[in-house]
Amino acid sequence: MSIAANKDGNAPIGLFDSGIGGLSVYLHLAQQLPVERYIYYADTLHLPYGDRESKEIEAFTLTAVDWLYKQGCKLIVIACNSASAYGLDAARRCYPHLPIVGLVPALKPAILASKSGHVAVLATKATLNGMLLNQVIADIALPNQTEVTKYFDPQLVPWVESGMPETSETAQRLRQQVRAFATDDIDYLVLGCTHYPFFRAFLVDEINAQQLSMQVIDSGQAIATRVQSLLAKQNLLATPENSIACRNDKKHPLVFYASKYDDRLDGVVRRLLGAQTQIEYVF
Ligand code: DGL
Repeated sequence: MSIAANKDGNAPIGLFDSGIGGLSVYLHLAQQLPVERYIYYADTLHLPYGDRESKEIEAFTLTAVDWLYKQGCKLIVIACNSASAYGLDAARRCYPHLPIVGLVPALKPAILASKSGHVAVLATKATLNGMLLNQVIADIALPNQTEVTKYFDPQLVPWVESGMPETSETAQRLRQQVRAFATDDIDYLVLGCTHYPFFRAFLVDEINAQQLSMQVIDSGQAIATRVQSLLAKQNLLATPENSIACRNDKKHPLVFYASKYDDRLDGVVRRLLGAQTQIEYVF
């Protein structure tokens, strides 16, 4: 099957996640590439992906990529580590001419920067068991004699989706876990799920309050840079000259589709993106 990709620089960039986590990647993209148009697909009907079987995650990923492809996207970001772990290869096989960018936890830079030789990666069970991450451990951590602690808490994604109440048991567990990481001499925390950068400030506050020396990193910025360079290479960057919204000095609204819509979604999305972001929901 050979499917043509949209070669129009004005076509949108598609983003996909199981829920609202991929918005953390969108924020980096919107800042680095503000004149682009963006379409976001949240598979809220099947959220969370983290505990699901690999074949099921692959099938959901292909459905989402197909939907975004049919919206005419010129490039798709699988803004979900779990979906990338099991669906990226299949998506690239189905759409060989479409640039598709996937996510893998930013473990490599953490390993290379670690002074203690011990880092932690926080991710879903699916991502922690997946090939993409374990290949980085084999290729980078082992030769650098760096220990990698894998941490998984099934409540973290639902906690972010529900607006991260600071008094919840999940928040309390996270505070205790930061102490446990420090006791183990871990100096880098890698946020290996796109939902997690939304509690980065919470972690950093906790690290500072406990006077610990620990860095927190994620892949959002690197993905925005990768998307920019891929689009530039293929001459597909939108330009202010051919963008009506930018001529009027206004950003395009984020087009947001959820496979299951509920009343709370808009409030949570607006809180994460900031009130100034224009959102257009598609049902
Ligand atoms: N945001 C997703 C990730 O990066 C997964 C969340 C989930 O559905 O479990 O892995």
